[in-house]
Amino acid sequence: MELVTGIHLFVVQWLFAPINCSLWNSSNPVKIPLCPIISPFLVGVKTPVVDLSIEWEDVFAKYDVVRCNGHLKPSSCQARQKVALIVPFRDRYGHLKVFLNHIHPFLMRQQLDYKIYLIDLDDDILFNKGLLLNVGFLESGKEYDYDCYIFHDVDLLPENDHNLYRCSDQPRHMSVAVDKFNYKLPYVSIFGGVSAMTKDQILFVNGFSNQFSGWGGEDDDMFNRLKFHNMTLMRSMDDVSTYKMLKHKQSHPNPKRFKLIKTGMERVKQDGVKNLQYEILKRNEFPLYTYIKITI
Ligand code: BGC
Repeated sequence: MELVTGIHLFVVQWLFAPINCSLWNSSNPVKIPLCPIISPFLVGVKTPVVDLSIEWEDVFAKYDVVRCNGHLKPSSCQARQKVALIVPFRDRYGHLKVFLNHIHPFLMRQQLDYKIYLIDLDDDILFNKGLLLNVGFLESGKEYDYDCYIFHDVDLLPENDHNLYRCSDQPRHMSVAVDKFNYKLPYVSIFGGVSAMTKDQILFVNGFSNQFSGWGGEDDDMFNRLKFHNMTLMRSMDDVSTYKMLKHKQSHPNPKRFKLIKTGMERVKQDGVKNLQYEILKRNEFPLYTYIKITI
C-alpha cells in the first residue's frame, strides 16, 4: 500500500514541473488547457499520517517540487482557481510539520495553483486570529491575483481529497465534520476551522473583526457579518468534508467574546480589512511556505 501511495505521489509531483520562481506570478507563455473540473488524481479518503517525529529535512525532501516559498501550480494544465491558503500561526512547529506533510500532496492531487502563507503575531501580543487572517488576505493579495482565500487552522487535516479547496459564489465553511466533534457540526452557525472566500466576498463584509484577542469568537462574528450582508453560507456534504484535528492544549477562551459578538455589527464598517494597520516584523521564505510575522 505504501509503495502504491509513493508511486502515485511521484506521478502527481512529476506533473508539477519545477517553475522559475521569478516568473511564478506571470502567466504561462505557452497556452495550456484548463485542468479538468475533477482532477484525475483524487483518491478519496486518505487517513492523515500523524507522525510528530518526522524530520523537517524529510518533509522538505519529500516535496522538493514545491520551490517558490510554498507556491505550486500544475505544469500540464491551467488550474481552475488560484488559491491562497492562510494559516494563522503561533509556535506550533510540531503541528506545522504534520500539516505540510499532509496538505501539499492533498492540494497537488487537486491540481491547484496554490501557495501557503503562515501569519504570526508579535509574541508580546495576545493571539488574534481574525486580525492574522486579515493580514494574510492583504499580504497574499499584494503578490498574486488569487481567486480564492482559504483560512485554515494548522491542526486540521482534511481526510478526503474530494473536499475541493476552491471558492464558490457564496462563502463556504469547509470543516463541517471534525473527529473531535464526532464528525457532527457542533452548532449551526459555526464558521471556524477551515473556510473559503473570494476577494469580493471578503471585501464586501470588510474581512474579519480585529477585536477578538485571545481564543474564540472571530468566526462567530464572521458568520454574523455574512448574515448582515445577506450572504448565504455554503457547506459541503459532511461525508466529504471530514477532518482530523491534531491534539493540543485548549487555549483559554476570551471571556469578552460574547459581548463582542453581540455588538459586532455596530462596528462592521470600521473594524476589518479596510482599516487594519500593522507592521511587518519578519518575512521568511521557506520552500514549503511563506512566513510573515507582524505587529500592531
Ligand atoms: C467559539 C468559536 C469556535 C467554536 C468551536 C465557539 O465557542 O466562539 O470561535 O470556533 O467554539 O470550537
